[in-house]
This record gives sequence, C-alpha cells and structure tokens, in this order.
Amino acid sequence: MSGKFITIEGIEGAGKSTCMAFLRQRIEQRGLAVVETREPGGTPLGEDLRALLLGHKHQGMSAEAELLLMFAARAEHLQQRIKPALARGDWVLCDRFTDATYAYQGAGRTLSAERVAQIEDWVQGPLRPDITLLLDIPVELGLERAGKRSAPDRFEAESLGFFRAVRQAYLDIAAAQPERVKRVDASLGLEQVQAQLAGFIDPLLAVAG
Ligand code: TMP
Repeated sequence: MSGKFITIEGIEGAGKSTCMAFLRQRIEQRGLAVVETREPGGTPLGEDLRALLLGHKHQGMSAEAELLLMFAARAEHLQQRIKPALARGDWVLCDRFTDATYAYQGAGRTLSAERVAQIEDWVQGPLRPDITLLLDIPVELGLERAGKRSAPDRFEAESLGFFRAVRQAYLDIAAAQPERVKRVDASLGLEQVQAQLAGFIDPLLAVAG
C-alpha cells in the first residue's frame, strides 16, 4: 500500500504541534511508518532557510524574496525527504506546506495567487497533499496562545490584519477544495479537536488496511 501525504495548516497558536503528535501516534498504531517533518525546514538547507525567514535579521525582506525562499526550501524538502518517503510507502506528516504560501505570501503579503500557482506547478509538478487538516481558530485566540510560548518570530510579529487575511485565505482554500482540505474547529477542547482529526484520518487508515 502506498503512503499518504498529510499536511497540517493554521495560523499561529492553532495547536499544530499537539495535533501532529496525535496524528503520528494514530498512524503508527496501525503499524505504518511515518515521516514527521515541517516547512519551512525538514532538510539541513531548509532549516537554514527557515532561520533566515523567521529570524529578525532581514526585517525588510521583499515579499518576492520571501516567496522564493519558501519554495527553495520546499524544492529541497521534496527532493530530499518527501518524495523518497512516499516512494518507500511511508506516510508523510508535514507541519505546513504550500497552502501556507497562498495564505501568508499570497493573502498576507498580497502577492497574486496566480504567481504562487505558477511556482507551485514548477516546483511540485502534480504532487499535492492527499489530505490537509486546517486547524481553524479566531485570530485573537491564536495569537494569545502563541504569545505565551516565546518571543515573536518575524511572522508572529505581524499585525492582526495580516493574520485575519491569512485565516480568511485558509478558509477560502478549504471552501474551494473541500475534498482535500478539512476544517477542524481548533478553538474547542483537546478531546473534541482530536475527535475531529480522527474522523478525517481514520477513513484513510481504513483503506490502508
Ligand atoms: P511555524 O511552522 O512554527 O508556525 O512557523 C513557520 C512560519 O512560516 C509561520 O509563521 C508561517 C510561515 N510560512 C509562510 O509564511 N509560508 C510558507 O509557505 C510556510 C511553509 C510557512
């Protein structure tokens, strides 16, 4: 049986890490191999690019440079980790992927979705996630949770308006691609969030045997 490519999305503070751990455990319980990874990052080059993108050294980075660095990290990630894992039949669980580029660089930085789509097609070819779990949470609540964790990175320091645009873009993607993108109400308690995740992932696991 071939592995599945699962991505997790959402604004800061939506609870992605907790959900990743839950999903990983649920897949492994079925005896399936999981590669857990993240974007930007997931390879030595990708993690270096992540430090440049999230750090405060390059405050005035242009939106175009930011977009291309995200895709540079993604190209490396696809070649070094994601495609080899899927070819082995492993399941890939990725914390963020190209929907984040549409949401943050597209809606947040106001680059056109057409431009993002062009680079997506070039870098990824036909590869898209099998399922994307969108952890949806009101912006104020997400930022409050994220703010308690650590000093804000270059994205976390953005305005409320930026994150409102990001959240709306994610919701628009989910509305446009309902077969792939599943909205999870992440403002609920842990058990209720996990029940929603299980509801979406279990049918995939059942098919995997
Ligand atoms: P996080 O994964 O720890 O939340 O941090 C990654 C940050 O990078 C987050 O603020 C979203 C941002 N990001 C983009 O702006 N575009 C992208 O394509 C990806 C993958 C992440």
